[in-house]
Amino acid sequence: MKKSINDALNKQINAEIYSAYLYLAMGAYFDGLGLDGFASWMKVQYEEEMFHAMKFYGFVYERGGTVTMEAIEKPGADFKSVLHVFEETLEHEKHVTSLINGLYDLAVKEKDYAFQSLLNWFIDEQVEEEDSAQKIIDKIKLAGEKGPGVYMLDQELGTRVFTPPAKGEA
Ligand SMILES: [Fe+2]
Ligand SMILES: [Fe+2]
Repeated sequence: MKKSINDALNKQINAEIYSAYLYLAMGAYFDGLGLDGFASWMKVQYEEEMFHAMKFYGFVYERGGTVTMEAIEKPGADFKSVLHVFEETLEHEKHVTSLINGLYDLAVKEKDYAFQSLLNWFIDEQVEEEDSAQKIIDKIKLAGEKGPGVYMLDQELGTRVFTPPAKGEA
């Protein structure tokens, strides 16, 4: 694979692991509040992000590149409320979408069709990621941030489980 693509992939692997780390920090915030369901949702999110990192990792070696590890940035820990955490989640996912779009631009510029094909999966995934964060924000606003509403949402989010998609499936 071209060096420009290999470098960009290594950056994205780092960004995905940072995402995992950020969601784990959010999970820890919820565990600290005794919101087991919200915490569990974030830990599933953590696993998903590690899965994304490993999907890029696998592609690098399938295409004859090299994975190099850089330092993972420390995630922010200034979480103010349940709503605030999900607003941060949505903002973060929008940022990741812009990174994926940037990779797609590079794949087109370098005429790397295999890379474009991989990125199609991630483009679809980002639509889901933004949508699920937005839906939780809407629900928190409907249910309220305190009392029975947040308790019910905690029960609901606690049912999420991580299921790695089969190869070629979104
Ligand atoms: Fe991701
Ligand atoms: Fe994500």
